[in-house]
Amino acid sequence: MAKAKTFYQCTECGGQAPKWQGQCPQCNAWNTLVEAIAAPAGARFETMAGARSVVTTLASVEAKENPRIASGLEEFDRVLGGGLVAGGVVLLGGDPGIGKSTLLLQASAALGAAHRSLYVTGEESVDQIALRAQRLGLVNAPVELLAEVRLEAITEAIKSATPEFVVIDSIQTVYTEALTSAPGSVAQVRECAAQLTRLAKQTGIVVVLVGHVTKEGAIAGPRVLEHIVDTVLYFEGDPHSSFRLVRAIKNRFGAANELGVFAMTERGLKGVTNPSAIFLSHHAEPVPGSAIVATLEGSRPLLVEIQALVDPVQGGMPRRVAVGLDAQRLALLLAVLHRHGGVETSGFDVFVNAVGGVRIQEPAVDLAVLMAVHSSLRNKALPNKLLMFGEVGLAGEIRPVQRGQERIREAAKLGFRTVLLPTANRPRQAMQDITIVAVDRVDAAIEYLRE
Ligand code: TYD
Ligand code: MG
Repeated sequence: MAKAKTFYQCTECGGQAPKWQGQCPQCNAWNTLVEAIAAPAGARFETMAGARSVVTTLASVEAKENPRIASGLEEFDRVLGGGLVAGGVVLLGGDPGIGKSTLLLQASAALGAAHRSLYVTGEESVDQIALRAQRLGLVNAPVELLAEVRLEAITEAIKSATPEFVVIDSIQTVYTEALTSAPGSVAQVRECAAQLTRLAKQTGIVVVLVGHVTKEGAIAGPRVLEHIVDTVLYFEGDPHSSFRLVRAIKNRFGAANELGVFAMTERGLKGVTNPSAIFLSHHAEPVPGSAIVATLEGSRPLLVEIQALVDPVQGGMPRRVAVGLDAQRLALLLAVLHRHGGVETSGFDVFVNAVGGVRIQEPAVDLAVLMAVHSSLRNKALPNKLLMFGEVGLAGEIRPVQRGQERIREAAKLGFRTVLLPTANRPRQAMQDITIVAVDRVDAAIEYLRE
């Protein structure tokens, strides 16, 4: 293959330089130049579909639902928004050892019966894959394997094997000969992903790219892949618990923030179709510093226990540590608790944790964080069978959250008796077996729980 001409492009401003240099000649940012391919004129900016584009009117375009290809793993299909889409490119990110290869080998095997699947491995040998397949009870699964890291060889193999479903495990190991940068560098990862994406769009093959999360928490550096692909999924979960969550953070074909729940077992990942209560710890008696919140992750409510430990500072600065929750938000909530609830935590270390390795992003968890902190500080447990949700504002108000009704219903289903919620979320009709306590200020919530 003739060597393509390359140049250096700034990841910040798009500025160009013929040779690598430390500083971008256009925007003067440091260390932002990465290698890029100077393709022949015309080809470089081809549309993704590879076709000639024409101007049409919106009304003349027939909106087609993308037909879904069911992977056979119900929770995986759910997080994808109902299944895979032909020509769609999915990025699956997550920490090493969380279960990415396991999930995709299971999906390849399940798909293999009806759709040809090709599993390209750059990290492990085919023997290692076979060993995993044995463990999963999938030794005879109709999956084709390829141990290869050179992009040109991979695309050749895809063109000759004509699969419908391709897994690239992982995109960081793949490199193209056209670039001199090392495999795993931003330039390589970006170019290889772009070429594989173009191939997917042109042929209608579903491509799943495995991406490692770097220490900074981004996939392959500055989130270079997220806007190239159609769907971005992240694997999360506490490595010490068996539960694994796959979260869609971007999906061109479905709702973002959808959640798939799995349990890692001796024989691979098993879907958990009714996950609502798996993140509750089961205390015999209510304990101080524990509050249960109903959070809505994707289309399903999930009940999660929030634990807080408030302890006098042992010299030096008080510490604020949040696990599974936003640490900045914790600091903000403590300030609101002080100003509007009259509860001082400045002489204390504050630790909060969302149990079970789940990560909660929505502000509906605010009220539970405050109440758990307050409960730990007073060393007094909250009432038994109490659930709460509500966003807390800087002025000390408790703001409504979306789909309150669903959260209350889930609580009722799991045997909760009392729901503490924002006044605006109070259901119009009384509900059987559930006492609703509506509050609109932080001090009112504290007052209620003090009784
Ligand atoms: P793996 O899929 O290799 O993770 P990743 O590709 O994200 O790095 O799986 C990692 C862990 O899962 C590994 O520590 C072993 C465990 N595991 C099981 O518990 N049960 C199983 O059936 C399999 C295949 C793996
Ligand atoms: Mg792996």
